[in-house]
Amino acid sequence: APYEKPNDYDWSFSGPFGKWDQQQLQRGLKVYDEVCAACHSLKFVAFRDLEQLGYSEAQVKAYAAAKQVPGIDPNTGEATMRPGLPTDYFPSPYPNNVAAAAANNNAIPPDLSLMTKARGDGVNYVASLLTGYQEPSAELLAEYPEAAPGPGLYHNSYFPNLNLAMAPPLTTDGQVTYDDGTEATIEQMSTDVAAFLAWTAEPSMIKRKQTGWPVMIFLLFATILAYMSKKQIWAAVK
Ligand code: HEM
Repeated sequence: APYEKPNDYDWSFSGPFGKWDQQQLQRGLKVYDEVCAACHSLKFVAFRDLEQLGYSEAQVKAYAAAKQVPGIDPNTGEATMRPGLPTDYFPSPYPNNVAAAAANNNAIPPDLSLMTKARGDGVNYVASLLTGYQEPSAELLAEYPEAAPGPGLYHNSYFPNLNLAMAPPLTTDGQVTYDDGTEATIEQMSTDVAAFLAWTAEPSMIKRKQTGWPVMIFLLFATILAYMSKKQIWAAVK
């Protein structure tokens, strides 16, 4: 296939001893908030979930209140926008798919909540995709002339179709200003937002991994006990 396999990044949360890097998740949220949220929803994440990233209840309340979410006017019963509450979910940037498609060259920006599960090698894929925009190479075009991007499409060697309707969203170092002083290179912002999306897709991942250890230790103990019982029970039989 002419498209490339995602790069192998070194994630704090991979492997049996993995842990979320809360600072990284907070940075990733900032990238989502300031860049991706203009086009992509995050509909399975509620504002109160952000407490898991280390924000206080008051911070979450203020964060939610600064967003406008769809609501109903209590006096007229009509649909309206109102400030968010911690129990609200991240709002969609567009009122509906028609509006979303109209704004994006007829492609609907997919919801990002589960994106790292929806694509193979998802977290590596998202980070690679964001850093993977470049002009198609001459060799590629020689072999696949149809790989030249059409109008409103952008070439990306990690995207299986090679051209997608998303313009490169992260284009300049320092596009986001991180609160923890980390330098916001394109690579840094890409991996941070990918890590954040790994968290949105499976917030309980680390708990799941940690649950495995007591289970393994118990099973080992139970196996030894069973073996010793067997020895004891059959001791008289030669
Ligand atoms: C598609 C991530 C910003 C518009 C996608 C996909 C991902 C993604 C993972 C799916 C690719 C696939 O189908 O495999 C992000 C992230 C962003 C971001 C992490 C922020 C850093 C934006 C912005 C816009 C946008 C700002 C609009 C100006 C789109 C569109 C698609 C898309 C239209 C569909 C492309 C197609 O299927 O041809 N994005 N995106 N994205 N995104 Fe973004």
